[in-house]
Amino acid sequence: MMKNLFAKISRNPVSLLGVVVTTVSAIIFLTLFAIELVGFSGGPYVGIMAFLIVPAFFVGGLLLIPFGIWRARRKAKQAAERGEEAAPEAFPVIDLNVVKVRKTLLFFAALSIVNVIIVSTATYKGVEVMGTTKFCGTACHSVMAPEYTTYQRSPHARVKCVECHIGSGASWFVKSKLSGSWQLVSVLFNLYERPIPTPVHNLRPARDTCEQCHWPTKFVGDRLKVITKFDEDEKNTEKKTAVLLHVGGSMGSTSRGIHWHVDRGVHVSYASDEKRETIGDVELTLPDGTHRIYKASTAPAKPAKAMRNMDCIDCHNRPSHIYRLPDEEIDAALFDGRIDRSLPFIHREAMKALKAPYATREEAQEKIRLAIQGFYSATYPDLAKTKSQAIEAAVKSLQGIYTSNVWPSMKIAWGAYPSYLGHTTATGCFRCHDDEHKSAEGRKISQDCSLCHSVLAQDEADPKILKDLLQP
Ligand code: HEC
Ligand code: HEC
Ligand code: HEC
Ligand code: HEC
Ligand code: HEC
Repeated sequence: MMKNLFAKISRNPVSLLGVVVTTVSAIIFLTLFAIELVGFSGGPYVGIMAFLIVPAFFVGGLLLIPFGIWRARRKAKQAAERGEEAAPEAFPVIDLNVVKVRKTLLFFAALSIVNVIIVSTATYKGVEVMGTTKFCGTACHSVMAPEYTTYQRSPHARVKCVECHIGSGASWFVKSKLSGSWQLVSVLFNLYERPIPTPVHNLRPARDTCEQCHWPTKFVGDRLKVITKFDEDEKNTEKKTAVLLHVGGSMGSTSRGIHWHVDRGVHVSYASDEKRETIGDVELTLPDGTHRIYKASTAPAKPAKAMRNMDCIDCHNRPSHIYRLPDEEIDAALFDGRIDRSLPFIHREAMKALKAPYATREEAQEKIRLAIQGFYSATYPDLAKTKSQAIEAAVKSLQGIYTSNVWPSMKIAWGAYPSYLGHTTATGCFRCHDDEHKSAEGRKISQDCSLCHSVLAQDEADPKILKDLLQP
C-alpha cells in the first residue's frame, strides 16, 4: 500500500511539487526557529518570514499532495471513459491484520504529528509576531511610519498597538485578523487611502481597551495647565496662559466636570457625519432615567449610518498618534531650550520655514536649513558667526519637528489629524458645546467659559497667579 501511495505521488507532478515545497519549508522553518531559540532575533521581517510566510508554503505544499492525487485520478477516469486507458484502481482496502498496512499507518500517523507540531508552533509564533508593536508599526513600513513615529513620542509609547486596537478576547482578535488581511492586500496593491482615514470606525469601544488600564470614574478634580507661547517679535516675547481645567470625575455617587460624560450612569450618544466633525442631534440619559434630546440647529450634510455612543475617544481622539502644529512645537522647543530664544525673530522665521510647502521630507530638510541660515547671514551677519552653534541647533530641531509631523508621501500635512481635546486647534468640545444644541425644555449644551475651566491668565508676560503660586 505504501509503495502504491509513493508511486501515486511520484507519478503526478503536482503532488511531487507539494512534497518538495513542504519538505523545504519544514527545513527552513525548523532552522529559523532553532536560530530564534538560540536567542538571535532578526527583527520583524525575519519573524514574518519564519512564522507567517514559510508556514503558509508548508501548509500549501501539504494541500498540494492530496490535490495532485485527486487530479491524477480524475484524469485517469476521464481517459478511461474515452477508452484510452484502464480505469483507475479502486481505493485500497485498509486491513489492519496486514503488518505492512499497520506499519504504513503508523508511519503516516507519526508524520502527521510532526506536521501538527510544526503548524501549531508556527501559528502560535505567528500570532505573537503579529501582536508586537514592531510588526504593527514597521511591517508595512512607509504606510505606518506616521502612526509609529507619533506613537513613540506619546505617553503611550510603552503600550502595545494591539492593546488599543484589538484588546482581549477571541472575537475582536478574529475581526482584526480579517481586516488585517485586507489591509495587507491593500498595501501590496497600493489601494489604501492617503492619509489613512480617521476616525477608525471599527475601533473597539474604549470600555474594552482604555478602561482596562484607566479607571473611567477616577476622580481627577481640577488640573492646572500652564501653556507657554512666544510672540513673533524680535525678542520672541514669552507669554503665559493658565487654565484650571475642571476634569472632575466621580465623587461618591455623583460625578461632575469634564469626565462626567463617561460616568457609569451617564449615556451620551450623537448623530454626525462620517468624520464626526459636524455633530447633529445629541441624546442624553442620566442615572435617574432623565432622557433629553438636544436638537442641532443644522443637520450634518452626509450623516453616518448609526448614532455613536460617546466614550473616551470622542475627546481623547489622539491619545497615541499625536500630531502637533508648528507653533505648538516651536513654543515647546523655545521653552525647553532646544531652540535658543535669544536668536532674534527665531519664532517667526521658524514658522515660515516649517509651513512652506515641500514635496519630500528630504527637500524639507535641505530648505529648512537654507531658510534659517540664509535669514541670519543676510539680516544679522555678525550674529550668524558668533551664534553659529545656536543656529545649527535650531536648524536640527526644526528638521526633527518637521519629520515628526509631516509625511508628504502619505499626504499628511500640518493639521491632517486634529485633536478634539479642547477647542483651540480644532472645534473639539465646541462641536457640541456651541450653544446651538437645544433641548425641548430650553437647555443648551453650553459654551459658558467657566463650565470647563477657569482661565486664570491669558497671554500674560508675568501672570500674578503664577507668581503667587511660586512664592516661597
Ligand atoms: C493608547 C491607545 C493606542 C495605541 C497604543 C495605538 N493606537 Fe493607533 N489609534 C488609537 C486611536 C484612539 C486612534 C484614532 C481613533 C479615532 O479617531 O477613531 C488610532 C488610530 C490609528 C490609525 C488610523 C490613523 C489615525 O491616526 O487616525 C492607525 C493606522 C493606527 N492607529 C495604527 C497604530 C499602530 C501601528 C500602533 C502601534 C505602533 C498604534 N496604532 C498604537 C489608539 C492607539
Ligand atoms: C495598557 C494600558 C493602557 C491602555 C490600554 C491605555 N492607556 Fe492611557 N496611559 C497608560 C499609562 C501607563 C499612562 C501614563 C503614562 C505616563 O504618565 O507616563 C497613560 C496616560 C494616559 C493619559 C494622560 C496623558 C498625559 O498627557 O498625561 C491619557 C489622557 C490616556 N492615557 C488616555 C487613554 C485612552 C483614551 C486610551 C484608549 C484609547 C488609553 N489611555 C489606553 C496606560 C494605558
Ligand atoms: C468630554 C471629554 C472627555 C472624555 C469623554 C474623557 N476625557 Fe479624559 N480628559 C479630558 C480632558 C479635557 C482632560 C484634561 C486634559 C489636559 O490636562 O490637557 C482629561 C484628562 C484625562 C487623563 C489625565 C488625568 C490626570 O490625572 O491628569 C486621563 C488618564 C484621562 N483623561 C482618561 C480618560 C479615559 C480613560 C476616558 C474614557 C473612560 C476619558 N478620559 C474620557 C476630557 C475627556
Ligand atoms: C457629543 C457631544 C459632546 C461633546 C463632544 C462634548 N460634550 Fe460636554 N456635554 C455634553 C452634554 C449633552 C452635556 C450636558 C448638557 C446639560 O447640562 O444639559 C455636557 C456637559 C458638559 C459639562 C458639565 C458636566 C457637569 O458637571 O454637569 C462639562 C464640564 C463638559 N460637558 C465638558 C466638555 C469638554 C471639556 C468637552 C471637550 C473635551 C466636551 N464637553 C465635549 C455633550 C458633549
Ligand atoms: C466645553 C468645555 C469648554 C468650554 C465651554 C470652553 N473651553 Fe476653553 N478649554 C477647554 C479645554 C478642555 C481646554 C484645554 C485644552 C488642552 O488641554 O490643551 C481649554 C483651553 C482653553 C484655553 C487655553 C488654550 C491655549 O492654547 O491657549 C483658553 C485661553 C480657553 N480655553 C478659553 C476659553 C474661552 C474664552 C471660553 C469661552 C468662550 C472657553 N474656553 C470655553 C474646554 C472648554
